[in-house]
Amino acid sequence: MKPKLNVEIGRLKLKNPVMVASGTFGYGLEFENVAGIGALGAVVTKTITLHRRVGNKPPRIAETPSGMLNSIGLENPGVDIFVNEKLKDLSKFKVPIVVSIAGDTVEEYGQLAGALEGINSIDALEINISCPNLHSGLLFAQEAGTTARVVEAVRSNTKKTVITKLSPNVTDITPIARAAEEAGSDAISLINTLMAMTVDIKEKVSTLGSVTGGLSGPAIMPIALYMIWRTARTVKIPIIGMGGIMGWEDAVAFMMCGASAVSIGTANFVNPSTAEEVIEGMAAYLRRHGIKDINALVGTLRT
Ligand SMILES: Cc1cc2nc3c(=O)[nH]c(=O)nc-3n(C[C@H](O)[C@H](O)[C@H](O)COP(=O)(O)O)c2cc1C
Repeated sequence: MKPKLNVEIGRLKLKNPVMVASGTFGYGLEFENVAGIGALGAVVTKTITLHRRVGNKPPRIAETPSGMLNSIGLENPGVDIFVNEKLKDLSKFKVPIVVSIAGDTVEEYGQLAGALEGINSIDALEINISCPNLHSGLLFAQEAGTTARVVEAVRSNTKKTVITKLSPNVTDITPIARAAEEAGSDAISLINTLMAMTVDIKEKVSTLGSVTGGLSGPAIMPIALYMIWRTARTVKIPIIGMGGIMGWEDAVAFMMCGASAVSIGTANFVNPSTAEEVIEGMAAYLRRHGIKDINALVGTLRT
């Protein structure tokens, strides 16, 4: 028996629930020769902004126990080059494309959603709200009010599926998740990286050029599971879970905690075939346990 792996996230229909996380798979093409892109549930592209950004001062990557720090700083070529070059190349893979967007202001998020609206090869937008709000200095994702305003701005400019990506750098994830749902988001993805830093004691400097960065990888998985479990008990819209997934067992745990789909991030740097292996491993798990449909796994954690 071949288990059913299809999942639906808003109007987005995926052949399996395994995606690759924004910023860890470039614009897809970078992985063309090392990963089977066509097998993926979806590709989430690196966050783009209205205008080109050069990113942060190097070093922008540091290894940590069971994880990594990054401070890329949203380096990207801007929406025009993305649409005219990167997206055209990625479209040939016949894989659903989720485009991650960010801005400095609420208006910029709305403008970007509007600029992408007429493009049929884009299946969904993921709103990256883990960026500083120019007005308050806080991340948009750190306040329910700004989260709602960004989601409303995007929602009113697009009919595409809208996924709001939440930050774990908050005291309580639930009011933020609720604000995204009430403002019209079709789904929630979490978690983005945890703010962190490491120190080079010999030089008395931070290991990263921008002093602080975002922690990802297996070190953050227990936090991700906790936040997904709490969010799943708060909202009705589907959740895409990520944070340290290295293999199919991790993905099964995320789904048991309430994720309808999962994203592979840091693991792509270790083994670019991780997503494909997770798809195969989860299918085999379902077969062994006589589960006919992967959706039956979601939220089955016994408490
Ligand atoms: C090098 C690197 C770059 C990232 N860039 C982005 C980005 O552009 N936009 C975004 O929303 N998340 C970005 N992320 C966060 C990941 O998409 C993901 O949410 C996070 O790393 C947790 O998953 P993981 O532990 O499996 O990597 C980045 C992560 C890494 C490691």
